[in-house]
Formats: sequence, C-alpha cells, structure tokens
Amino acid sequence: MNKIAIIGAGNLGSAIAEGLIKKSVFSANQLIATRNQLHFIEHLKEKGIHITANNSEAVREANIIILCVKPYKVKELITELNPVLTSDKILITVVTGLSLKSYEDLVKSPLKIFRAMPNTAASVEESLTCICSNTTDKETTRVVQTIFNAIGETVFIQEELMNAATVVGACGIAYVLRFMRAMIQGGIEIGFDAQTASKIVNQTVKGAAQLLIENGLHPEQEIDKVTTPKGCTIAGLNEMEHQGFSSSLIKGIKTSFEKID
Ligand SMILES: NC(=O)c1ccc[n+]([C@@H]2O[C@H](COP(=O)([O-])OP(=O)(O)OC[C@H]3O[C@@H](n4cnc5c(N)ncnc54)[C@H](OP(=O)(O)O)[C@@H]3O)[C@@H](O)[C@H]2O)c1
Repeated sequence: MNKIAIIGAGNLGSAIAEGLIKKSVFSANQLIATRNQLHFIEHLKEKGIHITANNSEAVREANIIILCVKPYKVKELITELNPVLTSDKILITVVTGLSLKSYEDLVKSPLKIFRAMPNTAASVEESLTCICSNTTDKETTRVVQTIFNAIGETVFIQEELMNAATVVGACGIAYVLRFMRAMIQGGIEIGFDAQTASKIVNQTVKGAAQLLIENGLHPEQEIDKVTTPKGCTIAGLNEMEHQGFSSSLIKGIKTSFEKID
C-alpha cells in the first residue's frame, strides 16, 4: 500500500492532502503531513491524516515523499532526511526553480525524482500540474500522475520547459485574474455594481475556458462565433488590439520568463 509523506504542509501541501482524500484517491490513513507549526494543520488531523513535526518519522513510514517547502529550505531538509531517504522511496518536489540534478546531488541514495509544478487552483482541485522526472518507470509515473490528477489535470514535459511551465501555468493564474479584474472594472464603468460585474465576469471566464476544454477548438474559432460583421464585439476587440492587448500579454509572459532564473 502506498503511503505519502507531505513534507511542509503549507498552502500547497495542504491543498494536495485535501485533494487526495476528497477524490478518494488515497485514504486519510495513507497520508502523513508535516510542518513545524502543527496547529495550522489541525484541519488535516480532523480528516484522519496523521500530522507530525517529525520529518524523519514521516519519511520512514512513507514510500512517496512530496516536498512542499520553500526553495531556501530544501538543502537543510534533504540533509536532515538523507539517512531515511532510501532508494525504495519516490521523491516528488513541488519546489520552484531547483533542477532534478540539484536533488540528485543532494540525496545520498539513487532515487526516482519528480518535479511537479501545480498552480494555486490546486485548492479547488482545478490545478494544471506540469511534471518531469529522472525516470521512465511506467508504474511510478502512473502513481505520480494519479496524485496530481486529484488536484486537477497533469501534463508531462521535458525538464527544460519547467520554467516556461511556471510562467504559463503558475504565474498564468495571476495574468488571468488581472484580466478579469479589468473586465470587472469595465463592467462597473458601463453600469454594473461590483458584485454583479464580478459574478458575470467569473462565470463568463469559466464558460469561455469550458468551451475550449470541451470543444477542443482554437480560441479564434470560438471568437468567430460571437463576432457579427460590423458588430460591437469585433469593434471592441479591434480597439483592444490597437491598444496592444495581445502584444502586452505576450511581452509580459516573456518578461516573467526572463526574470525566472
Ligand atoms: N502555492 C503555489 O501555488 C505553488 C505553486 C507551485 C509551486 N509552489 C512551490 O511550493 C512550495 C510551497 O509553497 P506554499 O505556497 O505551499 O508555501 P508555504 O505555505 O509557505 O508552505 C511551506 C510550508 O513548509 C513548512 N516548513 C518550513 N520548514 C519546514 C521543515 N523544516 N519541516 C517541515 N515543514 C517545514 C512551513 O510551515 P512551518 O513554518 O509550520 O514549518 C510552511 O507551511 C514552494 O517551494 C513554492 O515555490 C507553490
């Protein structure tokens, strides 16, 4: 039976733990969550997850380790865990920025290591998680994918695309939210109160995403369906483009990407 230790159950670690039991992918007694300030994860304990501040104990009991701490904690943590990180364990890290090679250099045993890049929608089980690894082992890969499918969708990528995945997938949440904020502001200017404008925008964005997900079309094909010749939609869209809408988004994505290293 697989047993998972979530090391550093903060925002993301807790969201993963909750997603796993909510979707019944793993039962609560298959999970152990650690952090120093245990009172912050009492809600996990109430759901039957074993919580502890003892990382070594958690790793000893588990065969899958999910590292969810901040990047600057990794070196100290792996050093602490090395005596119990035996080669039968699978190490998954959601930590931003550290390469597979840097983990291989830190761990003492040869391990199957996965890097996963989810986004904050993990807390509502709607993350997109990009994953890469140093192994081609099918069964291990399947188990890791099952874990992240519990908090949304997964895509396997080459490690060199991990920074790009961080920008489009994780920073992407902020880009979309800023776009939504602007739409709400526009809605208020043409007559809606903030609450109604937010409700309309939230559902419209959700609907637009769902159209692409379910119909599998390019955005422009869905746009064609709402742009009547000489109509108000195309007039508004063209004005947005004259003002640099697509261009500013693409430039922003490139700027984030240049900043990430
Ligand atoms: N949030 C996201 O959407 C997201 C997306 C992709 C990747 N990431 C990456 O995921 C990692 C975690 O992000 P987060 O937002 O979840 O951060 P977070 O809320 O700060 O969680 C990190 C947790 O680690 C715990 N911790 C620190 N030292 C520890 C130790 N020695 N042993 C056990 N636990 C320890 C901290 O709790 P105590 O202070 O109680 O120990 C803290 O709750 C980061 O590396 C981030 O780059 C996050």
